[in-house]
Amino acid sequence: MTPGVSWKIPTLEDLGDVRGKRVLVRTDFNVPMEAGRITDDFRIRAALPTINWLTEHGATVVCASHLGRPKGAPEPKYSMEPVRARLAELAPGVELLENLRFDAGEEKNDPAFVQRLVQGIDLYVDDAFGAAHRAHASIVGPPRTLPSAAGRLLQQEVDVLMGLREKPSRPFVAVLGGAKVSDKLGVIDSLLHVVDALVIGGGMCFTFLAAQGYGVGDSICERDQIDTCRALLARGKPIHLPEDIRGLDANGVVQTFGRSLPEGAKGLDIGPGSAAAFADVVMDARTVFWNGPMGMFEDARFEAGTRTLAQAMADTRAFTVVGGGDSAAALAQFGLDDEVDHVSTGGGASLELLELGDLPGLAALRSAPNAAR
Ligand code: 3PG
Repeated sequence: MTPGVSWKIPTLEDLGDVRGKRVLVRTDFNVPMEAGRITDDFRIRAALPTINWLTEHGATVVCASHLGRPKGAPEPKYSMEPVRARLAELAPGVELLENLRFDAGEEKNDPAFVQRLVQGIDLYVDDAFGAAHRAHASIVGPPRTLPSAAGRLLQQEVDVLMGLREKPSRPFVAVLGGAKVSDKLGVIDSLLHVVDALVIGGGMCFTFLAAQGYGVGDSICERDQIDTCRALLARGKPIHLPEDIRGLDANGVVQTFGRSLPEGAKGLDIGPGSAAAFADVVMDARTVFWNGPMGMFEDARFEAGTRTLAQAMADTRAFTVVGGGDSAAALAQFGLDDEVDHVSTGGGASLELLELGDLPGLAALRSAPNAAR
């Protein structure tokens, strides 16, 4: 597939001659921070191919991003200053605006804020895949008036994720984990149309196990979603659930349980048998999408399930894609982030693109004045 063409989004080449032009680049520099220091600059480095292409072609680049979730007013802890310092090391001479969410107009998609953003700007590039599911001013506003394009990162993310949706090599397996099943019901529903099998671990597995009549003890379980999970299980596609569970018994002692947990017990990881079985499914697949850890991997007592899954992602011959967020953090913790084919920079955005096949940021680019009709 030719990058960027299949989904009809204008690419950098569709901007025409960028020499001497001032280009606003919407990036997702929402990086993890601790005590004012960046703990992972992956999202900044991921924007460099676009920034470098523009500067090498003679453009002046002005980047803009959100950081955290300030409430529409400046808050020192969300200042872009640490990001600005890192960007200056990686791409000297590139400007970076202050946190877009310091202005309430960003999240409200206020036309007056869009007007301020595009003042003195000739062209717009969206490279903020992680924020492309937000219909915010800096994402959907500039393409209404400016010639616009997807940056290289956005283009690559869309090609990989839409490729999974539309023509995966089979067997295609999706592995889902994380705490809340209610966050993922939409994507599970969509994925069941395209995958050959679904593997479910993490906190969300307990609602499925409860739907099958197993005891879940004190584990996280969304009782109001049990009927929906039962309906998903009845859809006829193979859904692999854990056959053993690691967790704490009623006395707080670490134990491996079967599928049914006794009263007072709390499941915090998949058990070794399930981890091996899930790894086998991943090893036999040709395409694997993974989003969400198998357990509380931040705690060494409950990291084994996620580690085994991550190792299978590294070892399989399948094309492997990891949705951002916690699963990407887990891969990094185990030193395996270079061992998979694609680590998405977007957690929510990758799930929403898989679920819906489109995002507000992509729709905005498709209706830009320079986009092919
Ligand atoms: C992310 O970290 O997933 C993106 O930067 C989007 O951030 P948000 O969920 O605060 O909109």
